[in-house]
Amino acid sequence: MTSIAHRPIDELGGPTSVLVRQRTDHVELDHLIRAAHESHGVERQKTVNRLCRLVFPHAFAGESVLWPVIRRVVPDGEAQTLEIEREHQQINELFTELERTEPDSIAYDDLFAQITDLLRQDVRDEEDSLFPELRDALDDRDLRRLGWVWLAVRRTAPTRPHPVVARRPPGNALAALPLTVIDRSRDGLDQLALRAPSRLAARASAGLASLAGGIERIGVLRVGERPDTHITDTHSADAD
Ligand SMILES: [Fe+2]
Repeated sequence: MTSIAHRPIDELGGPTSVLVRQRTDHVELDHLIRAAHESHGVERQKTVNRLCRLVFPHAFAGESVLWPVIRRVVPDGEAQTLEIEREHQQINELFTELERTEPDSIAYDDLFAQITDLLRQDVRDEEDSLFPELRDALDDRDLRRLGWVWLAVRRTAPTRPHPVVARRPPGNALAALPLTVIDRSRDGLDQLALRAPSRLAARASAGLASLAGGIERIGVLRVGERPDTHITDTHSADAD
């Protein structure tokens, strides 16, 4: 199975194929990770915020549009998508912790390094294994159709970590609208606060964060989740 990492665009269904769109985001992701590691203070915070606005809509569109198709058309799609959902779950949990950690502290650097490793692993799993199988299972027209649907969802998806909601439909689809509105409002307020420190903007953003936390815990938004998506306890059990 040949990785999609360096295959010509024509072999992947053309410029609007979901595989090409995914690969373009992965290149941007790598660029932002490097920039975040090389910067400090407010500059780093801005870069991490940009990273979140790329990572979470990208992952959400994968979970709600692509993975269900992969589970239908790729022979071991269930196992492969579950593995990636676990990585996404860990990334959501680590980013949630990062939001509560003092920027530029040792703890922050350690968490960010863990996130970086997981994000890079996620890209390798997709480009080297999952997407080559999807390429073989679908024709070019299907890849382009998926590309347009994936893009539409990505443009309107939540931009923040939400570790409590389901990583699968219907739970994640039901959560999308309220969490998107809250996340994108917080993005605006946080940008404002980074440009000119404002206690009011910070308070409003914190209020919206707790509202999002309350929404996440509505039971129906967990429907569809595989119980073994949450592997944090399993890992610590393995380590014992
Ligand atoms: Fe991806």
